[in-house]
Amino acid sequence: MKKLFAALIFAVLPAIAFANTGQGPELEEVDIDLADKAALQDGARTFANYCMGCHSAKFQRYERVADDLGIPHDLMLSNLIFTGAKIGDLMKIGMQPADAKNWFGAAPPDLTLVARVRGNDWLYNYLRGFYEDPARPWGVNNKVFPNVGMPNVLVGLQGRQVVGCKQVQIVEHGKKQFDPLTGTPLTHEACDQLTVLPKTGALTEEQFDEKVKNLVTFLAYSANPVKLEHQRIGTYVLLYLAFFFVFAYLLKREYWKDVH
Ligand code: HEC
Repeated sequence: MKKLFAALIFAVLPAIAFANTGQGPELEEVDIDLADKAALQDGARTFANYCMGCHSAKFQRYERVADDLGIPHDLMLSNLIFTGAKIGDLMKIGMQPADAKNWFGAAPPDLTLVARVRGNDWLYNYLRGFYEDPARPWGVNNKVFPNVGMPNVLVGLQGRQVVGCKQVQIVEHGKKQFDPLTGTPLTHEACDQLTVLPKTGALTEEQFDEKVKNLVTFLAYSANPVKLEHQRIGTYVLLYLAFFFVFAYLLKREYWKDVH
């Protein structure tokens, strides 16, 4: 009995641990489509241009990315590889972790698998969550990663984001609240809101969100490059099983008809 009880405790422990969703900032959800080649290509471009100065993706090869994403090798070489690496090389970078630690206080981790560790929603919010904070070495802080060592490398696209007050819709028990009579959203003033200063970035807010979504799509692909393949094969397996079932059933009927 005691053993059973102990086993039960261990069985429900993860549920208790993960039920702890009240902690940390609320994450906006992002809907990632791994089959969207255009998004993946755009994400790969952003990654090569804005991230690979500091982060490697060293469990991945350029060639595999080019082939999976439908990017011709010559375009990959001329537009996405800046290190003089060959198409078959791993996506490594030149920065030494020891130097990086000196410069940033923390070494930029390899990002091949980061989407598995952090999750897509976390990444989407993190990359959109930098705001100006003069107390920090790079002048920026982050809403989902407080006191982060990374500068806001996308500031040129996003613009300067600051914390300020904004009217936001009231949410109770996960539901947005509306005025029952007029149907208009009920709002209140919140002073921990991120706002981009107008005309400080090259992209509009929607365009920037799209850019980051594409980048997260690329990171999600990179963390699990065979996922699409699995889904495709999975469909065939299920179709095969359905097809096989018919014959198995007919055969069973044939065998049992003399027994009854
Ligand atoms: C100038 C160097 C630099 C560039 C460029 C850069 N980062 Fe970083 N990044 C860092 C550093 C340093 C850290 C470690 C921060 C820490 O631990 O405080 C980091 C941390 C991260 C993390 C958190 C990893 C984790 O799980 O702890 C993610 C995700 C990330 N970077 C994504 C990106 C993406 C995506 C880009 C490109 C848009 C990018 N970074 C560009 C320096 C950089």
